Amino acid sequence: MISTFYERIVGTSPPPEQIVPKILCVGLSCVDIVQLCKSYPQEDTDQSCIDFRYQRGGNASNNCTVISQLDYPCEFLGILSKEQFSKFLQDDMKKLKIDFSHCPILEDGGCPTSVVLLSMSTGSRTIIHHKQNETEITLKDLEKLSLEDYTWIHFEGRRNVSDIIQMMQHIENYNNALIQMQSVNGDKSTHLPITVSVELEKTRPELLDLLPYADVAFVSKDFSQSRGYTNMRETLNNFSQESKTGATIFSAWADRGAMARAPDGTIVQSPAFPPYKIIDTLGAGDTFNAAVIYYLNKEKISFHRDRNPDDQSLKVEVSRNFNIESSERCQTEFINRDVLQSAVVFGCRLAGAKIGLRGFDGLSKVYKNYLS
Ligand code: ADP
Ligand code: FRU
Repeated sequence: MISTFYERIVGTSPPPEQIVPKILCVGLSCVDIVQLCKSYPQEDTDQSCIDFRYQRGGNASNNCTVISQLDYPCEFLGILSKEQFSKFLQDDMKKLKIDFSHCPILEDGGCPTSVVLLSMSTGSRTIIHHKQNETEITLKDLEKLSLEDYTWIHFEGRRNVSDIIQMMQHIENYNNALIQMQSVNGDKSTHLPITVSVELEKTRPELLDLLPYADVAFVSKDFSQSRGYTNMRETLNNFSQESKTGATIFSAWADRGAMARAPDGTIVQSPAFPPYKIIDTLGAGDTFNAAVIYYLNKEKISFHRDRNPDDQSLKVEVSRNFNIESSERCQTEFINRDVLQSAVVFGCRLAGAKIGLRGFDGLSKVYKNYLS
């Protein structure tokens, strides 16, 4: 019996549906209660604010919000619960088509919450966060995923540094097995090794332990300053000593824009692109990181699709970082100077546009305008 419309018309069974490998972001989702104030309040005063809203927040969760607005399939992996605020987070992710199907859902884990004060006069955002419970994602949770479904996995550097390292090593083992299988069998399967990125944002010194395991690292201004660095170049040059051989590092610095260091040591830079009026700087860094991940991932996919094994043009000379023990192969061969330059500009453009918007709504329109 001819079963489908396709078979009746074409006469053969349909080609297998092309599944686009996802970007996975591992970290926090929380409720942000945001108040827009004329200026930052004085202690023990009583005043009205200009605007109030609540929205889904958390770095990894915000990364997914941005990636989904750029219309790329993404997944969030973090702790959720059955509590009503956590249900709000889940409903919001459903609305934006962010997959959260592998998240542990705690019976009564509460819901992490931030109170955020935005100051109209300075553009600052002050965050007071409550984490509700100590549970974090572990290797056991990651092991439930089929890694072939992902092309990029991003970790928000959180308290559970040793769990994150185990997860990064698990991915490294998967990549090594995949590459070995492909070279032994001459297997030209479509699966790509996974690129692993990490964000060092909060000023906890132990986050530095994550650097040797990441192909791509995002170091925030706050983290850099907590290590005594006063600018982006200093940040990149110092952290590259502690990174995996061949890693790419980004340093974003508010209105100074951002810089990145390529695997071969080349440094590229972008100015900031401030909007006409700054109205909401909450999540600027999350937007920058997500935009860069999205951009680089797109380049990675086309690099592997168009790859000609004899083409040396994209190969960069990388000297081995002997400070680092881990140093397995780095999944950054698609990153050259031009790619990195465009990624950093794209990140600054999107982050600049975001701070002119209330929340994240409207970023997909910004992106469409950027393309046209
Ligand atoms: P975070 O949210 O982590 O504090 P940053 O303040 O470092 O992040 O900002 C990340 C990116 O957002 C910057 O690289 C820049 O492109 C953009 N950005 C942030 N603040 C401003 C600003 N005041 N003017 C223009 N761009 C900004
Ligand atoms: C912004 C953010 C907020 C959240 C806070 C957690 O970068 O993710 O959405 O409340 O940081 O630290």
